[in-house]
Amino acid sequence: METKTLVETKIVAELQIGFRQRYGTQARMYRAPGRVNLIGEHTDYNDGFVMPVAIELSVWVAIAPRDDRKLVVYSENFSERAEIELDEMDSRPRRHWSDYVQGVAFMLQKAGYALRGANMLIRGEVPIGSGLSSSAAIEVATGFALLENSGLPVDRVELAKLCRRAENEVVGARVGIMDQFVSCCGQTGQALMLDCRSLDYRLRPIPPDVRLGICNTMVKHDVASGKYNTRQAECEEGVRGLFPRLPHVRALRDVRIEELDRYGSDLPQTIYKRCRHVVTENARVRYATTALEKADLATLGRLMAESHLSLKNDYEVSCPELDLMVELAGQVEGVYGARMTGGGFGGSTVNLVDKRSVADFRRSVANAYEKTTGLSPQILTSAAAGGAGEARA
Ligand code: GLA
Repeated sequence: METKTLVETKIVAELQIGFRQRYGTQARMYRAPGRVNLIGEHTDYNDGFVMPVAIELSVWVAIAPRDDRKLVVYSENFSERAEIELDEMDSRPRRHWSDYVQGVAFMLQKAGYALRGANMLIRGEVPIGSGLSSSAAIEVATGFALLENSGLPVDRVELAKLCRRAENEVVGARVGIMDQFVSCCGQTGQALMLDCRSLDYRLRPIPPDVRLGICNTMVKHDVASGKYNTRQAECEEGVRGLFPRLPHVRALRDVRIEELDRYGSDLPQTIYKRCRHVVTENARVRYATTALEKADLATLGRLMAESHLSLKNDYEVSCPELDLMVELAGQVEGVYGARMTGGGFGGSTVNLVDKRSVADFRRSVANAYEKTTGLSPQILTSAAAGGAGEARA
């Protein structure tokens, strides 16, 4: 896919110069976007439903082939160079930014793709630890670039799956498929409704007078930290606990609200709450899909508010700063909906904002948030962006 905006043209030109200075040749350029999720949180690893949107912030990879079997990678964000031997890779994490590159290269080769050596230069625009999927963006941009650099075809769904495996098995975060999938398959102006079991998806337009407001609390979110994995284990415990009564259940996706009401008392209270979040959130995604199809923003906004409360009270993955950010957005005229987005424990909120209210939204939320917390938030707005691809100046 070709990208055309002025900002992108500028980034491509800068990376081309940087690449030539570092490696002495021309490069090809690839980008993959971060994401927000409108609704459907912590449902992906329960085989459920999600509604993410790719955003206008990407990770960029400039790449050119080498004659040997090395990946030589320079990260602009970390001002650091790493070398990876394609024939000596393993799946051990180094707890280093290059794990993402090595993880993806490792999974691609394991899946049978014969990769060529490469020089690479990486620039990430997605703020790290902000809940906007900088990890998926670096994985997908790397995967896309490595495949095309090796003259191999890119199957977007396959790439999303392999990038997820890289994060699960090499980086060590047991994430679901949502982030990698939308980074690969998102389309300009559209939200993506994904069934995380079958991987069937539908794209539906975001109404043109609505912008995505993204408020970064500046509280670092770290998916690889234990709490995310604990939530997954709690969901699995829920499935095991319900199994004697509901033997058809393979994942929480298969549990209906009435069934949980009926048999939930078999579960320990905490596990019941985790399950209630997932089961009700899946239902909310289905309602939200209909609401978006009808451009019914009031209903969509109400569902987003319910989702946030469920994440706060039942799933317990919010934090005071996220709650405050949601509350402040709710006070601004022209904001249809607000909720935490992504894994939680810090990170960002997503907001649906009428485009005439964007300036007011940014100003009032930023001022009030800073006044209460002493933290200066990053408030961005974005349209729904396209998925990964090659970019030309
Ligand atoms: C992170 C993970 C996703 C998903 C969300 C929560 O972003 O990478 O797979 O589980 O958290 O919805």
